[in-house]
Order: sequence, then structure tokens, then C-alpha cells
Amino acid sequence: MSRSPLKVGVVGAGIGRHHLAGYRALPDDVEVVALCDTNEARLNEIGSMYNVPRYFTDYNELFASGEIEAVSVCLPNSLHAPVSIAALEAGLHVLCEKPLAENLASGQKIATAAAQASGKFMICFNRRYRLDVQWMKQALSEGLLGRVYHVKAGWIRETGIPGWGGWFLNKDIAGGGPLIDLGVHILDAVMWLLDYPAPLTVTGATQANFGPHSAKTWQASPTPPPYTVEDSATAYIRLSGDVTLNLETSWASHARPGMDDFFITLMGTEGTLELYVANYATENTLTLYTEVAGKPVVTRPAVKVSRSDHEYAIAEFVKCIKEDTPPTASVEQGLTIMQMIEAIYQSAAVGREVVLT
Ligand SMILES: NC(=O)c1ccc[n+]([C@@H]2O[C@H](COP(=O)([O-])OP(=O)(O)OC[C@H]3O[C@@H](n4cnc5c(N)ncnc54)[C@H](O)[C@@H]3O)[C@@H](O)[C@H]2O)c1
Repeated sequence: MSRSPLKVGVVGAGIGRHHLAGYRALPDDVEVVALCDTNEARLNEIGSMYNVPRYFTDYNELFASGEIEAVSVCLPNSLHAPVSIAALEAGLHVLCEKPLAENLASGQKIATAAAQASGKFMICFNRRYRLDVQWMKQALSEGLLGRVYHVKAGWIRETGIPGWGGWFLNKDIAGGGPLIDLGVHILDAVMWLLDYPAPLTVTGATQANFGPHSAKTWQASPTPPPYTVEDSATAYIRLSGDVTLNLETSWASHARPGMDDFFITLMGTEGTLELYVANYATENTLTLYTEVAGKPVVTRPAVKVSRSDHEYAIAEFVKCIKEDTPPTASVEQGLTIMQMIEAIYQSAAVGREVVLT
């Protein structure tokens, strides 16, 4: 195990600030060296907030500088592939934000580069590292639920269309709306809990009822910008092992005011385990429904999420580099999720089930 601090950089100072915070939480293992962003005002503001010594506006210069060993790629989705590939080709370890890319084809390019690279590639599927989701995994491995046969999962916002006028609303850059933005987290967490079964068939539907009218956004504007993504998506997915999954995602819907909730309900032959995270709650998120001596029993496991999801994911990335172990959130898993997302969009477009091989 390497004892010298890992020299890291972050590209993209939006959610990248959570990466800086995650690295800063590991002062014995990590030295934060550089921040890169094309927006100089943001670069200076976030760089000084996290006391970052070196600033770059060109990621190629950062990668060629020899100053860092690992980088977080925190950029708009269509930049994940070119920037991650450039970093891997420069011999760096890469933690890339979710989704893997804006579409499956770009994701496959990352997988090819990662297979040839000396550095590690991990995708920032940070929700699965929450302690309540980790507890669900433990409950499953201890057989508490018996055989899981159905999953109900989703992420629903009442008013939550992000990045008004920006790349989030542009299908060419983002790849889609809440499905690829929020659903990607839920799909990964469900698939990880179930040990990544093969997706077999997908039926999906998408809607855009609010965004095109400039309704229910975080940043309203009198002139609606072009809106080329969905604002809600649903899917019914068959997985290997005789498991089915109902997925719901939305950025905008008539619901509890301020609602921004995600949930995963695992239905098993011996019990049902529900995760319900209302507005990023960190406790009282779990409920277990079972039977004891023939009577229904409801249990509320006392699991508290004590750190941010990004802190957990970043600690995991650093650990896998230091201990030279395979990244737990792998490029292959990222590709499987992209395959599912692309199949949902394809099914929505053609209006029928898509069979995956
Ligand atoms: N894991 C999570 O919980 C989570 C949360 C939010 C966003 N994300 C992901 O993080 C990524 C970034 O999202 P965001 O919300 O931070 O977006 P954002 O638009 O707020 O930030 C992106 C930043 O990248 C910079 N940038 C753009 N092109 C650049 C380039 N060529 N070189 C350097 N900098 C460049 C922009 O100036 C901007 O500051 C997306 O993939 C998104 O899906 C993940």
C-alpha cells in the first residue's frame, strides 16, 4: 500500500466542489493539487474556497503537467468520454461523475481506453455508498428478504428542473433528462444491491409536460430556452433471476411541495425492505416488513448516514488506488446502466418493449 499522499486534481467546479470536499476530508492520504474550469470566475471562487494551490483553464495542460496522479472528471455528460480518455492516456487514475457518458457509444469508448490504461477508472455512483444502502446490501447477504422478486424504485421531484438554459436541458450534451440524471443513481443502487443481474427486456415511456412551458424549474426565466429532454420517465425492466423492476423518475410533477425524494423497495419472499429518502434525509430512511410467528412485524433499522455520499465515494476511490484493488463502481457497471437507459429511451421512442441480449 502506497504511503505518500495521492496528488489529485478536479476538472469542473460545479459538483466538483463536493469532490474537493471529499478529498480534503482525507488529509493523510490525499494532497489536493489543482482545479480546472473554463469559467475563471468559478475557478477562482471555488479554488480559493477549498484552498487549491494550482488553477488551470485547459484540462490538457493539467494532464500534461505531471503534477497530479488522479483526477475527478466533473463536467457536462458529453465531456466525460473525451476528458476521461485524455486523462487515462496521460496515465492518470480517473473518478468520473455519473452517468458514464451521454450515450452508450461514448461510454464504450471510455471502456476501451480504461482496458488499455495503467490508471484505474471508477464511476461516481455515490448513492450506493450511503450507509443505509450499504445496510440493505448486508441485509440481503444475510438472507433477511429471502429471494427478491420485485423492486419498486425511483426519484421524484416536484419542482426540480436543473440548469435552466444550460446543458442539462440539451439532449446532445446531457443525453436525456431525469432518467439519465437521477434515474442513473437509482438504477446503479438497485443493480448493485442485486449483484448486477443481466437486464433482459425494457419497456419505457418519457414525457415532457413542464419543461417546455418553463414550469417547475429551479431557475425560472421569462423566455423558455430550448428544451430537448424529458421531464419524467418510467420503465418496467425484467432482470435475470426472475426479478422485475418498476422505475419512476421526474424533475417536475404535481406532488408534495418541494418534494425531492428517492426510494428503493425490495420485495422478497421473506420480507420487504424499503429505503425512502425524503429531501436527502440522513436517518429514519429504512423500514423492514416481515412476519414473526405468523404475524406482520414492522422494523425501523437505526442507520444514520453520517457523511456526504460524495465523501464515501471519494474515500472508496482513494482506497482502491492506495491498495491497488479494482474500482468497486466499474466501467462495466457504468456500461450496463447506459445500456438500460438507452433501451428505455429507445422503447419510449418506438412505443414497445426492447429486448436486450
Ligand atoms: N453524483 C452526483 O450526485 C452528482 C450531482 C450533480 C451533478 N453530477 C454530475 O456532475 C457532472 C457536472 O455537473 P454539474 O452540476 O457540476 O454541472 P455544472 O454545469 O454546474 O458544472 C460544470 C462545470 O464544468 C465547467 N466546464 C465545462 N466545460 C469545461 C471544459 N472543457 N474544461 C473545464 N471545465 C469545463 C463549467 O464551466 C462548469 O463550471 C455531470 O455529469 C452531472 O451529471 C453528479
